[in-house]
Amino acid sequence: MSAEQKRKRTPNGSSSPILVTGGAGFIGSNFVLEWFAAGNGPVINLDKLTYAGNPENLASIANLPGYTFVRGDICDAEMLKNLLERYRPRAIVHFAAESHVDRSILGPEAFLRTNIDGTFTLLRAAKVYLESLDENDRADFRFLHVSTDEVYGTLAPEDPAFHEQTPYAPNSPYAASKAASDHLVRAWVHTYNLPAIITNCSNNYGPYQFPEKLIPLMIANARRGKPLPVYGDGQQVRDWLYVADHCRALMSVLERGRIGETYNVGGCNQRTNLEVVTTLCTLLDELLPESEFRPHKQLLTYVADRPGHDRRYAINAEKLQRELDWSPQESFETGLRKTVEWYLANTEWVDRITSGAYQHWVEQNYGSREAVSARSAQ
Ligand code: NAD
Ligand code: DAU
Repeated sequence: MSAEQKRKRTPNGSSSPILVTGGAGFIGSNFVLEWFAAGNGPVINLDKLTYAGNPENLASIANLPGYTFVRGDICDAEMLKNLLERYRPRAIVHFAAESHVDRSILGPEAFLRTNIDGTFTLLRAAKVYLESLDENDRADFRFLHVSTDEVYGTLAPEDPAFHEQTPYAPNSPYAASKAASDHLVRAWVHTYNLPAIITNCSNNYGPYQFPEKLIPLMIANARRGKPLPVYGDGQQVRDWLYVADHCRALMSVLERGRIGETYNVGGCNQRTNLEVVTTLCTLLDELLPESEFRPHKQLLTYVADRPGHDRRYAINAEKLQRELDWSPQESFETGLRKTVEWYLANTEWVDRITSGAYQHWVEQNYGSREAVSARSAQ
């Protein structure tokens, strides 16, 4: 490997930028913040700024000379071509997606467009760009596709956790669109030698998560004394990972992962939704001693289940641990406490994004879900 190649492979001090798509969303913005905190090189952040994208998340690094924000759509082939020619990134880290399962059930079109067509458009642009690079830059280039464990479908209580060879069996329009995007990435590796790597991660939680997802939604509702809507019997299991641990995994995969491989990422923190919500209530009782809504558990309300609701996800992350020496730093207890503290310290952030269009979503998703009083937890 030449000295020039070594310089570019080493994240610290590299002058070649990476292109991040969807960097104003939950995981993307945490990734960009972690990237700069670790002293890495320049970032071009391409984001359409849908309802889920919020440049405010990146206010602390927005004025750094190494940071460039571009508002744009990954479905726009001409824009992508110009962007790649102009900034000549050494890697693409692809987060941009429609990400909320309930929204995919009520309106799948945007999911097919961004997650499938957008990924296809990005892959095509990356291939043309790669062909324009000299041999060394081509050898260094990586396309990191950030995907989900939902592509594997659902597990029964005693099933082993998802591993990289688990057959795909997506159940929601969201999961199907992500599975399709994974297959496209795989095909571009196999057919065109695109140096891509796929990661499939379990449920993330932490700062800057849009309050439509379980944990931030429950914190926001509990703070306002609103019902905490638990779908179905609340016994669905998710495998929770603190977002900074996911971001560290992605950085390791980007720098040292093997081309054409898939890496599963997960926290080994399987919890039922009911456990998550009751733990949150206990934490809120402690952190909000003056709240008129204590004990917050009284707000817990069972509502109609999500159609096609996957019962259980669990990730086997042994490959990532073995090959790249990654393991999560946060336990569910430490991560959840940090998350609740962050949301309580940033109520204005939540209040700003839960006005306007968000109210329409709440009406649409929860308006038709009558409380199921027979199972009320009060
Ligand atoms: P998010 O919804 O919070 O953010 C998505 C971002 O993509 C937003 O900033 C949005 O503006 C942007 N975007 C959407 N459509 C776009 C388009 N057409 N062009 C450009 N930008 C666009 O999502 P997230 O939770 O941060 O998830 C990021 C990625 O990680 C997704 O690909 C998701 O499938 C994957 N993932 C998420 C989780 C999780 O628990 N949240 C777990 C595993 C994998
Ligand atoms: O597994 C990874 C996936 O995790 C990501 O790919 C998705 O982008 C991300 O949204 C997440 O999907 P889930 O559907 O698991 O996350 P969500 O926060 O929407 O829901 C978590 C669980 O909580 C799920 O079983 C549904 C339940 N739930 C959710 C909401 C919003 C409720 O019981 N009530 C609610 O109001």
